[in-house]
Amino acid sequence: MKVVSTIAEFKEARRRIAGSVGFVPTMGYLHEGHLFLARQAKAENDVSVVSIFVNPTQFGPKEDFARYPRDPERDLALLEKERTDLVLMPPVEGMYPPGISTWVDVEGVTKRLEGAARPGHFRGVATVVAKLFNIVEPTRAYFGQKDAQQVVVIQKMVTDLNMNLEVMVVPTQREPDGLAMSSRNVYLNPEERQAAVVLWKSMNLAQGLWQKGERDAEKIRNEMVALIKKEPLAHIDYVSIADPLTLDELSQIKGSALISMAVYVGKTRLIDNMTLGN
Ligand code: PAF
Repeated sequence: MKVVSTIAEFKEARRRIAGSVGFVPTMGYLHEGHLFLARQAKAENDVSVVSIFVNPTQFGPKEDFARYPRDPERDLALLEKERTDLVLMPPVEGMYPPGISTWVDVEGVTKRLEGAARPGHFRGVATVVAKLFNIVEPTRAYFGQKDAQQVVVIQKMVTDLNMNLEVMVVPTQREPDGLAMSSRNVYLNPEERQAAVVLWKSMNLAQGLWQKGERDAEKIRNEMVALIKKEPLAHIDYVSIADPLTLDELSQIKGSALISMAVYVGKTRLIDNMTLGN
């Protein structure tokens, strides 16, 4: 496994690769969800590349950029085990040298859900992912379904800007009790960790109602909200039932629907989602 920290050095290594490249962009503090993506990238391509970069531009001024968990040595040991070929770990000044003034803004699908709750977040995500795509030149790039809106935004950017790669979406990896794997789970104390399963429970409730034939999105949403409110440590930011492509909120579910939510458990903001129908 080769680890590089400068973009020039990465580009040099990239020039020597002839076959397909599978790329997993991450912010590090890797968990099984990331490793699943790295495994997939390795299995489906000649060469696998993982980037580790905590991207400051996707964090709001009151968000957790400074305290976002970091453990590069552990990350590298985990990637070594996955036989990842190349790791890019640029410093912030490498990705954002002084004077940078170009941004990628995906309109429309970024206005709601995470975009509404975290202004500027998707501009930061789209910009850094576009830059990483230009540096890595992947054949396929792998993203977790856990960040459902991020997937929609990246797919839109790739289509709109005619980017030459395939976006691969990999199912959310979960703990045995259903909690979606996330680097932010480390913030939860034991009591909060137990309470956090309410996100999964509320989605199962929704799925159960849907399977019984309920198509009134507001009714399903209200039941989910009532269940989450029973958990004293949980505070809802949003619970949404939306069209999976446009992310417009639905009143009736006609085809498929994306259930997504952001819920604070203690001070930690967790997101999760599930698709109904396909
Ligand atoms: O999903 C993430 O970890 C980040 O948003 C990404 C795609 C690595 C961009 O910083």
